[in-house]
Amino acid sequence: MSRQISEAPPPDRKPSRAGRNSCDFVDVDKVFRRMKLQPDAVFLDLGCGLGGYSFIAARQLWPQGRVLAMDKWAQGINSINNQLEQQVERNIAAFCVDIAKQIPLPNNSVDVCLMAFVAHHLVAAKTIDKVLNHLNSVLRPGAKVHFIEFKKTPPPPGPPLSIRLSASQLRQWLPEQHFTLVETTDIEPHIYMQTFTYNKESTTNDLPQMIYNK
Ligand SMILES: C[S@@+](CC[C@H](N)C(=O)[O-])C[C@H]1O[C@@H](n2cnc3c(N)ncnc32)[C@H](O)[C@@H]1O
Repeated sequence: MSRQISEAPPPDRKPSRAGRNSCDFVDVDKVFRRMKLQPDAVFLDLGCGLGGYSFIAARQLWPQGRVLAMDKWAQGINSINNQLEQQVERNIAAFCVDIAKQIPLPNNSVDVCLMAFVAHHLVAAKTIDKVLNHLNSVLRPGAKVHFIEFKKTPPPPGPPLSIRLSASQLRQWLPEQHFTLVETTDIEPHIYMQTFTYNKESTTNDLPQMIYNK
């Protein structure tokens, strides 16, 4: 149950900082406790990398809920698909896609979106507004959007201070008419999670089942 989107770069072009799984240094129990996933949720992991959060979400949501994992790094998506073959819970669909160009899902189909250590890349690449625009279409009214980022404070670990996003900088990228800030929480002393509710009215009623050919 995977899709390869033609606009993704070939496997040998590894995007900057791809290949790391932040679940190795983040208190994921705390992250998932804060997210409070509903059992039938559709969970979108944008910039999923190796899918660490996708697999945890998939286990929590099995058998009712589903996970959609997207990254432009083909090797990360291939690795997710290889792991999927070995497990019972197959409620993940992995897509190799540049999310600045498209988020190939039906309108109003996503309940929860996670972007873990992705937003600062999108800001640096000047593509965050495009990604948020695509996200607008696929989120259900009332959906939750969670960002995890390094604080913009020394010392290391983390990316260079110049490209980190503080919680207040991140908030400024989220249009207030669509995204209401719920909370900003410390996940680690140097890492925060910021959560928004998507509050746009539903306008269309597309068919989410078209993406789930189980
Ligand atoms: C620092 S890694 C984080 C991976 C994963 N979320 C985690 O926390 O373990 C950032 C990821 O964002 C992905 N990414 C950055 N820009 C992207 C884009 N425009 N489209 C899809 N994926 C993107 C990269 O390929 C990389 O895998």
